[in-house]
Amino acid sequence: MSAYWLDWLSLLTRWAHLVVGIAWIGASFYFVWLDNHLQPPGDPALADKGVAGELWAVHGGGFYNPQKYRLGPPQLPARLHWFYWEAYSTWLTGFAMLVLVYFLNPAANLLDPARAAPPGAAGVAVALGFIVGGWLVYDGLCRSPLAQAGRVPGWMFNAVLALLLAQAAWALCVLFSGRGAFIVFGAMLGTMMVANVAMVIIPGQRRMVAAITAGQPPDPLDARRGKQRSVHNTYFTLPVLMTMISHHHAGITHASLNALALVLLAAGGAAIRHGFVLRHRAQPHGRRPVLLALAAGLAMLATAAVLLQPRATAAGGTATGAAIDDTQALAILAARCTACHAGQPSFPGLAAAPNGVRLDSPAAAQARRAAIATQLGGGAMPPGNVTGLSADERAALLRWAQSP
Ligand code: HEC
Repeated sequence: MSAYWLDWLSLLTRWAHLVVGIAWIGASFYFVWLDNHLQPPGDPALADKGVAGELWAVHGGGFYNPQKYRLGPPQLPARLHWFYWEAYSTWLTGFAMLVLVYFLNPAANLLDPARAAPPGAAGVAVALGFIVGGWLVYDGLCRSPLAQAGRVPGWMFNAVLALLLAQAAWALCVLFSGRGAFIVFGAMLGTMMVANVAMVIIPGQRRMVAAITAGQPPDPLDARRGKQRSVHNTYFTLPVLMTMISHHHAGITHASLNALALVLLAAGGAAIRHGFVLRHRAQPHGRRPVLLALAAGLAMLATAAVLLQPRATAAGGTATGAAIDDTQALAILAARCTACHAGQPSFPGLAAAPNGVRLDSPAAAQARRAAIATQLGGGAMPPGNVTGLSADERAALLRWAQSP
């Protein structure tokens, strides 16, 4: 497919992914919020019907009164709404984006010759292995004795899951380019979330509906399992969204401590989500736990930002040494960058300068110095070092881009 049509396909798929993702995560946020705000029903007749909690809300000029049943209503209504297409279509469009941006041409964004994953299709297979394997390990963990509430304290399951995820984040950063590692981590978590819906929550709900239709009480285990997975999904949401937007921040994803950043950003996101979950619940201890969770989350983000700062030593990322002038800098750009970053790129398959970034004139290059420094410092550009930028050239160009 020509670069032109690929660009159109990417725009439309990304648009669709964003829209269905908003529908899914929006519904998920709403139902978590709803669950945490339910109050015992005011009318004893409701309680007799099996209603465990209700809520009053006003929105868009109307008054709403949702009610949640302890297990299920005595009889099913004629029309019952289900929520799954939002999740499935988010995964489908997301996987399409993964193929378009990372898998079709793995050397561009997914792989890095300086990292451990094999080149080409084998590297893509390793990424797919993480996505499928992540689900198998996580699902196994959820079905293991470790997840039996009552027998083992809940924090132990959470600690094991967090450790495994941190290990996966580290392994991904060893194997793939910075961008690749972040996106595969997000795709792995996102796949767990959608598989939770497709393989556990929805089948459980189908069994509950079948039981009620047959005039039998639904199995509380199905309700409990569904709740467990949907609680996990709540905490995965913010980390996944962070990885989805990380592509454009090569200064972070390609930093030498990128694995630490990935872990701290993911953990910080989960902690911040925890703060919001607590905020919605009636708090016997006041606002303190809410503020603590939010502060812990923000502290993790701040720690990542401070630790990743480029140091003023050659090894730390900021280059030192003799300065080069504009003419020398432009010569390196012309040799290593303008195959892609020019008005008429000569690199096969490119119809226009990527992201509109042209580096083929002194003025254009000057205007982009900060962005050039970001891309060069972590090694994000040239992608997969296709144009063979040497270490000396990188250091010299970085010096030029960072000079005041
Ligand atoms: C093989 C083609 C190719 C070469 C060679 C290349 N780039 Fe890029 N560059 C890209 C692509 C593709 C993107 C868009 C990445 C993205 O989607 O964020 C990009 C983006 C950029 C950006 C913008 C990043 C942003 O945040 O918008 C800068 C700056 C940049 N490159 C600098 C360089 C420099 C400096 C060199 C030479 C040392 C170079 N590039 C070599 C393909 C290339």
